Amino acid sequence: MCGIMGYLGPEEVSGVVIGGLECLEYRGYDSAGIAVSDGRKIAISKCVGSVANLKAQMAEHPLSGRLGIGHTRWATHGGVTRENAHPHADPQGRVVLIHNGIIENFYELREELKGQGVHFSSETDTEVAVCLMATLYDGDPLAAIRKACARLRGAFAFVILFADVPDHFYCVRKGPPLVLAAPSDEAFCASDVTALLPYTNRILFMEDEEIAELSAGSIALYDFDGAPKDVRLSTVEWDASMTSKGIYPHFMLKEIEEQGSVLRRTLAGRVDGGVDLSAEFPFSDGDARRYRRVHLVACGTSYYASMVAGRLMDQFTGLDVRVETSSEYRYGHMICDAETVAVFISQSGETADTLAAARRARAGGARCLAVTNVVNSSLAREVGAVLELRAGPEIGVAATKTFMGQLAALSLLALWIGKRRGRLDRSDELRLTEELVRLPLKIESLVLQGNAIRDVAEHYMKVAGFLFIGRGLSCAIGMEGALKLKEISYIHAEAHAAGEMKHGPIAMLDVNLPVVAVVPRDLFYEKTLSNLQEARARNAPIVAIATEGDGEISRFASDCIFVPATEDELTPFLTIVPLQLFAYHLASLMGREIDRPRNLAKSVTVE
Ligand code: F6R
Repeated sequence: MCGIMGYLGPEEVSGVVIGGLECLEYRGYDSAGIAVSDGRKIAISKCVGSVANLKAQMAEHPLSGRLGIGHTRWATHGGVTRENAHPHADPQGRVVLIHNGIIENFYELREELKGQGVHFSSETDTEVAVCLMATLYDGDPLAAIRKACARLRGAFAFVILFADVPDHFYCVRKGPPLVLAAPSDEAFCASDVTALLPYTNRILFMEDEEIAELSAGSIALYDFDGAPKDVRLSTVEWDASMTSKGIYPHFMLKEIEEQGSVLRRTLAGRVDGGVDLSAEFPFSDGDARRYRRVHLVACGTSYYASMVAGRLMDQFTGLDVRVETSSEYRYGHMICDAETVAVFISQSGETADTLAAARRARAGGARCLAVTNVVNSSLAREVGAVLELRAGPEIGVAATKTFMGQLAALSLLALWIGKRRGRLDRSDELRLTEELVRLPLKIESLVLQGNAIRDVAEHYMKVAGFLFIGRGLSCAIGMEGALKLKEISYIHAEAHAAGEMKHGPIAMLDVNLPVVAVVPRDLFYEKTLSNLQEARARNAPIVAIATEGDGEISRFASDCIFVPATEDELTPFLTIVPLQLFAYHLASLMGREIDRPRNLAKSVTVE
């Protein structure tokens, strides 16, 4: 949450920083701001709304310099106002700072500073941090930062300018991510690597409780006690072309359409005459048999991918399977010990709830694995063992292609654990892995139905809500389909196991509440059809996601979208695609800000 960009170098800073903020806007878009040092003093420009507003403001009142920092905000403390927008400065303008995170003891610090005569002009916790640093500053930036950090509780990533130190800037990480780079005579920082890819792929991923001092071409790194640390640069495999929209109107549509190739990449080298994850998640036969439990822990879309995986784990591993949201797992009491395999699923690898849950499992002695799209993320580093999604950078706030990568990685994991425990039949292994490699082509045929799905969406532009239903794996897909719709169209949608409809939700059904049914030809088909009869009897319009060749479904449904036939266990790979497209087209017809839905941010780094 919150996008951060900093630059020092020969280029005009406003162009570089605003370019970076545009790239990071998926992290927050309540307000935007920039601070530029002209070598003597620091000037600030900020506004409510998007980076485009800031750009327009800067065109009228340009700021010029070679050192600057910028921020896009996802509001926590204080409303969406210009005063609360970052950067913040102390009243004398000696220190200027941008922040991602939450300072938990801000109120008591604010009162203390007020007692010392400090005047505050915003409601933010961030202004408290900058004023604290300013009161502790006596010409030694690192000492002031260290002393301030010792007093702050909570999670924070800061980038800090000192007006009288115009050739350096400073970064602090305790919680939310920050990445750094210092190619030739420049220095950069950002909250996400995508903003730095146009300049370099040699990146330093800051660890928790580190302070960095950046100058042209150089990074010095310290711990919170001031001890120097090694500068660890990693080479990132992504490149800048992967973060462009190309011919697409929205990143979300591009990412939906990429899903066939994402699946190919996720499977590559892991499926060949069976499944083999020994390079990523090796364990001995003894270990494999010793495990008793598997926990799948995640948030949001990643949680729904885990629900699918949980069923496959039930079927193939013989382990006691728990699927839990990270925010609940963290405070739960389930056994989590050396006989537990704990899998943490997060596309970003930065979700605060999931990181906290992983720490709990590690403390209990569980065997941990991160399933993530970002190999250098905090989660990957926290957990050690990583199963990478290989989806490429996902920019649309609503997750789509990383969900596909998660389905693939987690299905392979279920098969792999089952195989190592001697619980997976060879015939099942071949049946499923051979079909997995056929799925990309089927997905590619599905995305060609975009226009037909748009026509279906057009029928529902005026409705106030939807009920999604499905059974088994399709129940999780209904939930993910409803989430996509809510996120980008803001239409109310709730999802239930189809068998639960009669226990309550059916009361809502009438001609005004469409039911979206995920009803592939699987084990549950007939049962779900009965539920559709019940919905139809209450005059609810029905949109069915069904299997090609199903001649019966059109008797029940007002609109049918067909997916190719596949193995029962793999239907989610196909049924999700029309639901993503349905949400996309409905939101697009309604004129929504698809890649930047209100109130959401891509990487949720606060609890
Ligand atoms: C949904 C969405 C969110 C994320 C959730 C977890 O489209 O993007 O629900 O899935 O915030 O994020 P990660 O997977 O990064 O931990």
